[in-house]
Amino acid sequence: MAEAKAPQQRGGQTEDVSAETLAEIGLRFEVDGEIATITLDRPDKRNAQTFATWSALARIGDSLPEQVRVVVVQGEGPSFSAGIDLRMFTPEGVPGQGSFGSAARLDSASFEQRIQEAQQGFRWLRRPEIVSIAAVHGHAIGAGFQLALSCDLRIVADDVKFCMKEPALGLVPDLTGTKPLVELVGLAKAIDICLTARFVEADEAMRIGLAERVVAGGDLAKAVQDKAAELLSTNRDAAAATKRLLQGAQSRTLEEQCAAEGAEQIKRLRAMFGGAA
Ligand code: CAA
Repeated sequence: MAEAKAPQQRGGQTEDVSAETLAEIGLRFEVDGEIATITLDRPDKRNAQTFATWSALARIGDSLPEQVRVVVVQGEGPSFSAGIDLRMFTPEGVPGQGSFGSAARLDSASFEQRIQEAQQGFRWLRRPEIVSIAAVHGHAIGAGFQLALSCDLRIVADDVKFCMKEPALGLVPDLTGTKPLVELVGLAKAIDICLTARFVEADEAMRIGLAERVVAGGDLAKAVQDKAAELLSTNRDAAAATKRLLQGAQSRTLEEQCAAEGAEQIKRLRAMFGGAA
């Protein structure tokens, strides 16, 4: 997984992700101390996403200032995100970005590379050095649902409507969402949600483990702020080491996990008290 690069801040913006460029794409990125906020900002199109959105998200991840420990992902307007820009399904596509039709005609290697580039916009949100929080309200459809799934935590408004629309459109979810979905809700529920493309609303999201907390829409920002403050109250390096342990837990045996816990702990103790390298 990519490491966070050295801080390149200038007036609250990283150098290679200018506010103007992001605004053209329909994104905002703000850093306030240890908290970064990414806002999907195309409310008139319900924050529909394009390849440019995903490549800008990847650039934000690559240049995230080192001091950032919490990344909040939120949407402006009535929806978190209505998913991929439906112009991708038209022959004309999205100006300058092509269409699904043109993507299908790429050779396999180029196509795989294009998908991997898109996925980079989502993958970095799992980095151990940060905790990512999706603040989700209204519709989170397709790529919008997958973006919320890419975050470590989901705090949702009571009007939330998650939908994995891809199979209804003849496609599969390919923006890194299938793994966290299965891990969160289990295989049977994930099959139910994806293969029916039905809406999952707030009560169910809470019940099946998709959401950590449901609040009234007007309380969403405050609930996210409170969670960020709680997360910042623990030790930065211990938090990153603990997240690494938790992320690896499912794929390790108990013996391997015990060894991993010991290895992380000795690093912590040596960092605190000194000792052999
Ligand atoms: N792409 C492009 N434009 C979109 C859009 C999308 N995904 N979703 C909404 N819009 C546009 C509408 O065309 C409309 O534009 P105009 O005002 O210019 O007509 C504007 O946003 C407002 O839309 P609605 O009037 O439909 O807003 P609403 O609040 O009544 O409904 C909604 C919101 C339920 C999200 C509805 O807009 C909708 O169903 N959108 C499409 C959802 C969808 O199918 N997304 C694709 C999912 S699949 C995916 O993301 C991954 C993949 O790889 C395929």
